[in-house]
Amino acid sequence: MENLIALVNRLQRACTALGDHGEESALPTLWDALPSIAVVGGQSSGKSSVLESIVGKDFLPRGSGIVTRRPLVLQLQRIDEAREYAEFAHAPRKRFSDFSAVRKEIADETDRETGRSKQISSVPIYLSIYSPNVVNLTLIDLPGLTKVAVEGQPDSIVQDIENMVRSYIEKPNCIILAISPANQDLATSDAIKISREVDPKGERTFGVLTKIDLMDKGTDAVDILEGRAYKLQFPWIGVVNRSQADINKNADMIAARRREREYFATTPEYKHLAHRMGSEHLGKILSKHLETVIKSRIPGLQSLINKTIIELETELSRFGKPIATDAGGKLYMIMEICRGFDGIFKEHLDGIRPGGDKI
Ligand code: GDP
Ligand code: NA
Ligand code: MG
Repeated sequence: MENLIALVNRLQRACTALGDHGEESALPTLWDALPSIAVVGGQSSGKSSVLESIVGKDFLPRGSGIVTRRPLVLQLQRIDEAREYAEFAHAPRKRFSDFSAVRKEIADETDRETGRSKQISSVPIYLSIYSPNVVNLTLIDLPGLTKVAVEGQPDSIVQDIENMVRSYIEKPNCIILAISPANQDLATSDAIKISREVDPKGERTFGVLTKIDLMDKGTDAVDILEGRAYKLQFPWIGVVNRSQADINKNADMIAARRREREYFATTPEYKHLAHRMGSEHLGKILSKHLETVIKSRIPGLQSLINKTIIELETELSRFGKPIATDAGGKLYMIMEICRGFDGIFKEHLDGIRPGGDKI
């Protein structure tokens, strides 16, 4: 049975591939209904570092100022082959095995849409990474929340970013990965501030505390990690990412993961929490949770998909056969994917129902 997360990834890409033609159909609604995980936090809180640690690869553009200016939908797909590669939805026939080229392509594709104006755009970039070293997971990297516009950016950018982030995380099917740096007062965390607005009970927010290694001597993060400082339904997860000096030295990601593990296992304050700390644990927990959420949404998704199939059939009948136009071809492709889904969802439901209570 195909992995559920991989299935939803395919459906997500298909919805986007249709572009404007999807506007009149149920596809945008379907997109919104697909569970996903959005990464939010202030600038320099460690969002990119957390994403790279989960992937175990260096591939995100870096720098000062607002680097992430378009949403990046990152689809991680575990494969058995030893080969690792990446693919962009906007360049489907090109396989990237050099991850520094992936970084450059993200930057270039950002500029293609925003015209080098340093403006932001809500049009997502789709990146799939296939590797034996990743867990199945879909993460959406969003521009960092900021308080001031810089270097020729319009003042409105502060509000524009906030609105874009909110438009993702306010959807009830969005799982929020809220990144806060441990070397700043949690009360000032942009991630907590905005996620609290849309998820006041912390029912779909995962709190991630970065930069634990940078805290002032004599202070520790135990109150936060044990959920006393700010309560969320899921346990907080602390991480130690590579420092700027590590990055400058091109420190190996795998070695960094090992150092992170050692940090939690050997620091007296965190020893008792070590089993549920670190980027590797974070990736596993998120993958498991995403799969659970998708399973629980199957019945709703299935009826939406059936509605979409009917709409697409109607739309296709207007094109006549054979389908000559590009739009017709895309519609047809999506209808086929939806039909496939319907079948696979049925299988999953059959697998779930006998016990009765797994949904
Ligand atoms: P973003 O703007 O939220 O994407 O933040 P980045 O991931 O680019 O991180 C900003 C800076 O903080 C970089 O120089 C990182 O090396 C550094 N950094 C992030 N997380 C940690 C951490 O856990 N420990 C240390 N020492 N540095 C970190
Ligand atoms: Na912050
Ligand atoms: Mg970043």
